[in-house]
Amino acid sequence: PAQCNLTGQWMNNLGSNMTISAVSRNGLFSGVYLTAVSATNKTIMESPLIGYQQLKGSPTIGFTVKWTFSDSITVFTGQCFINGKGRPVLLMSWLLRSDSDNIKDDWKQTRVGFNNFEKLPTIPI
Ligand code: BTN
Repeated sequence: PAQCNLTGQWMNNLGSNMTISAVSRNGLFSGVYLTAVSATNKTIMESPLIGYQQLKGSPTIGFTVKWTFSDSITVFTGQCFINGKGRPVLLMSWLLRSDSDNIKDDWKQTRVGFNNFEKLPTIPI
């Protein structure tokens, strides 16, 4: 049966791009994230991510993106599936934490949402 291999390039429903490097034997992985959108008005730049996946066929996944161009952090969690067309997809929830200088503004610093990622086909050379 088809398996979910996280290593490679992914694009989500917002047009954001993510490249995941090799996954280690215990499920640890890292990569880079290029978001298509931002809650800030800063110039968007590539940002690092680090995460874990469980070691099974349709693994649950969690990763953190540390934005290089803003003071925010996003955590993603979800699962990889093989969809009806036989392609791997990541069905993810996310929390985006924005920075606040004032404890009184804590309540409004967390956005929540969902993203689905499709794997971009690798071009054989
Ligand atoms: C920021 O705005 O401070 C950093 C960029 C946040 C981008 C968010 S993370 C959740 C959602 N999914 C994406 O691919 N981009 C947005």
